[in-house]
Amino acid sequence: MSTIAEKPSDGVEAASTRFLENLRAVPRRIGETMLRTGAPNSDRTRSTFVFGNVFLHLHPVRAHRWSLRWSATWGLGIAAVSCFLILVVTGVLLMFYYKPYPDVAYLSIKDIHFVVPTGRFIRNVHRWAGNMMVVVVLLHMARVFYTAAYRAPREFNWIIGMGLLVVTLGLSFTGYLLPWDQLAYWAITIGANIAQSPREVTDALGITEWFDVGGLQKLILLGSEEVGEEALIRFYLFHVMVLPLILVALMAVHFWRIRKDGGLTRPLDADRRLGRLPNDVYPVFTEAPQKTYNLAAIVKGHTPNVGSGPEQTLPAMPHLMVAEAAVFMLTIAIAVLFAIFIDAPLKEVANPAVPENPAKAPWYFLGLQELVAHSAFMGGIGIPMIVLIGLGLIPYLDRETEGTGVWFGGAGGGALVFWSTIYGLAAVVAVEAVAIYFGWIRQWWPGTPQLVITLINPGTLLTALYAIYSLWCLKKYNSTRAGALALFTCFVCGFVVLTVIGSYFRGPNWDFYWSPSDWPGH
Ligand code: HEM
Repeated sequence: MSTIAEKPSDGVEAASTRFLENLRAVPRRIGETMLRTGAPNSDRTRSTFVFGNVFLHLHPVRAHRWSLRWSATWGLGIAAVSCFLILVVTGVLLMFYYKPYPDVAYLSIKDIHFVVPTGRFIRNVHRWAGNMMVVVVLLHMARVFYTAAYRAPREFNWIIGMGLLVVTLGLSFTGYLLPWDQLAYWAITIGANIAQSPREVTDALGITEWFDVGGLQKLILLGSEEVGEEALIRFYLFHVMVLPLILVALMAVHFWRIRKDGGLTRPLDADRRLGRLPNDVYPVFTEAPQKTYNLAAIVKGHTPNVGSGPEQTLPAMPHLMVAEAAVFMLTIAIAVLFAIFIDAPLKEVANPAVPENPAKAPWYFLGLQELVAHSAFMGGIGIPMIVLIGLGLIPYLDRETEGTGVWFGGAGGGALVFWSTIYGLAAVVAVEAVAIYFGWIRQWWPGTPQLVITLINPGTLLTALYAIYSLWCLKKYNSTRAGALALFTCFVCGFVVLTVIGSYFRGPNWDFYWSPSDWPGH
């Protein structure tokens, strides 16, 4: 290298030539320095591609063929992550225009909807992705349950998952208020009244004056007695900051534990069930495997474990990554399709003086609202707590191993789930039909004390019917898994039927109507 004063000697490229060469090579070099180990086209570079990348490092370097089958997960966990990513991107875009103050919130949403270029589309995608996330997380939980993937060592990840479910519902619920229209205002008012439901019991006991848990819960939720500006700023902060941060933290633990728990659940005999790798699948090893073993780090030799080990695994890059990208793109496509054809609702500006009739909570709480109509305490607090505690206990009560990793695996299996579905549907339809056509205790004996109605109402009766059936299955099959399969299936049926009744068959004053065209005033 010559000094600045000297001219370059013969044979040494001129600095200007080297500069131009370097300039030409910039795009290639950026690619090389980004991937560091070159294109991922061999076992080694594929591995380094995954664990040398901060985002991909959450993945294993190789994934078991069982976990890569669509029917193992239906991609539901990744679909939930995809919904969240879509929500973050569209949510940040909406934040450029949204103003969280009652007098301008509605107008800013109107601007987004009618004035801002692509604003309506972004808002629609956000709304649809939010609803999809709730559905997908519920389906993911059902898939984990029905493949018994909550069993050891994954018990605690099931609990983390429940946290994710609660936060997902919280995110959707807090977002519901932000448009500040009639729909939002009265839905959140209903939600806040559900939070206040312990008053039903404290009133009946005459202790509300000293011990008002319900009132406190409502106050914490709204920041005041009514839905107002305190509630709006509170919901906004939870929606855009607190809950997303909690969700991200929980997701990190959720994924980390999947790795530490040895990947996704699969049956013990998964290797035998899978059989040999088909010829058209990307080769298991592109380089000759070099398995070695160490004995206390003294003796080194070739592994005696021929036939076991990573033969049934495939490199995460490309197999897992391509599957995940496919789920991601499908999720975007569905959200976009909905967004193109169905607009997010926007009613008149919120008016605390003119209640919506019927005022309905967000759809995933309509099953609870249906129960609240029978008993505020049981629908609002009692039964949700029973369901949450019951769900949390599942992995600790079912300690069996039969059927792990197999759909509807365990004692009774598919037939038990089939009959539980029939029973679960019949019970909820029967109990609701009685309540709708013949009324309940208060209509039959008007003087009945409130505490009796709190204890004996359609919600508690249904819970008892489900619990008795589940105990019967537990005894019949002599298996805790059978009891869990029966109970979970019954509750899913109850949730679906009550949600449908709350969504489509309840009109003004929460009366039952076969069709909205029968509502008074039509
Ligand atoms: C925001 C919500 C959630 C996200 C983003 C999420 C994400 C994921 C992903 C990506 C996987 C691996 C692939 C798959 O199984 O599809 C997974 C597995 C798992 N999830 Fe979730 N999940 C969520 C909620 C839940 C809920 C509500 C539960 C249960 C209450 C749960 C329990 C589990 C368990 C136990 C596994 C391991 C399954 C196995 O070993 O086969 N997750 N989750």
